[in-house]
Amino acid sequence: DIIPVVLCGGSGTRLWPRSRKAKPKPFLPLVGDSTLFEATVLRCDKAAGFGDPVIVTGAAHLEHVEEQLPDRASTQIIVEPEGKNTAAAIALAALRLPEDAVMLVCPSDHHIGDCDAFQSAAREAAALAANGWLVSFGIAPTAPETGFGYLKRGEAIEGTAGARVEKFVEKPDLDRALEFLSHGGYSWNGGIFAFRAGTFLDELKAHRPAIHDAVKASVDAGSADGMRFHPDPAAFARIESESVDYAVMENTSRAAMVPAVMAWSDIGNWQALHEALDRDEAGNAVKGPAELKDCTNVLVHSDGPRVNVVGASNLIVVVDKDEVLVCTPEGAQLVGKLHGAANQ
Ligand code: GDD
Ligand code: MG
Repeated sequence: DIIPVVLCGGSGTRLWPRSRKAKPKPFLPLVGDSTLFEATVLRCDKAAGFGDPVIVTGAAHLEHVEEQLPDRASTQIIVEPEGKNTAAAIALAALRLPEDAVMLVCPSDHHIGDCDAFQSAAREAAALAANGWLVSFGIAPTAPETGFGYLKRGEAIEGTAGARVEKFVEKPDLDRALEFLSHGGYSWNGGIFAFRAGTFLDELKAHRPAIHDAVKASVDAGSADGMRFHPDPAAFARIESESVDYAVMENTSRAAMVPAVMAWSDIGNWQALHEALDRDEAGNAVKGPAELKDCTNVLVHSDGPRVNVVGASNLIVVVDKDEVLVCTPEGAQLVGKLHGAANQ
């Protein structure tokens, strides 16, 4: 079985006011009826070859995780005393699994439009992982995004759909991102990874021995409470915060990729969410009660009040309890800078 390891850490200030500190992005029904977290767990369907998931989350989000888990009784939850980024979060899960377990690391805040394509890429990635590769999902890039990692496709791995990753570059500057796009041989790193637990720990130990040893100490001194596991807080506090991309993927010589041809979005802001939603012929998308008249390219997202928009184009309107956001697609990137978003 492929063991889904679901990471729930981050915030999502650019999706304010819907996403707030008390209930951030993964736990909200942003696209369909399920929340992003629920959809992530449901995509890793047992019938498609996935085993019981492991959730790694902060103590602050435990309540939402437990409320939204479809099958609490068989799901291990690792509760981080504080956020130490993804290298540590993945290492926690790897240390709690058998060495030979093939893990599929899934961010809990992405939208994936095509479940079958996800599952078949996961199976291809898992087959490579079983042979000792650290496998990324490669997504065809559509813009010189600087918030993503880039994979340079290397030699094909015989008998598989995968290829070696010749170079992994996390969050390049704009000039390099433009260069990668015009070169053509690069994919975005989808942030979904497959590897054997033992392979990951070996590579972490080789490239970041301090992180490896500190996480191990926190697990050795940790305690289980039913299906929850609590790493030791004092040991955990000594872990250096670094993402898996910088700590391991940029440095390993065992990186591979599988092409993931599927609708994929990290829903980085309201404009990205607008693109992920079903839109009418005029490009309008509505979630919640609304009436639009003579509008083009308008997004309305409301949790209650009916939103009425007339004669507008290129507009985003979001209503959440006591807050209303109105912005343009260009402004969407700056929402996190609003006082309300910063001091939520
Ligand atoms: N449990 C836990 N603890 N989860 C965490 C932590 C943590 O300390 N930090 C981050 N996460 C979770 C986030 O909630 C998210 O689901 C996932 O790990 C990835 O973290 P992000 O902080 O969102 O990473 P990023 O978006 O900047 O970059 C990563 O994803 C991109 C694709 O969306 C990288 O892997 C990039 O290379 C990649 O392109
Ligand atoms: Mg992200």
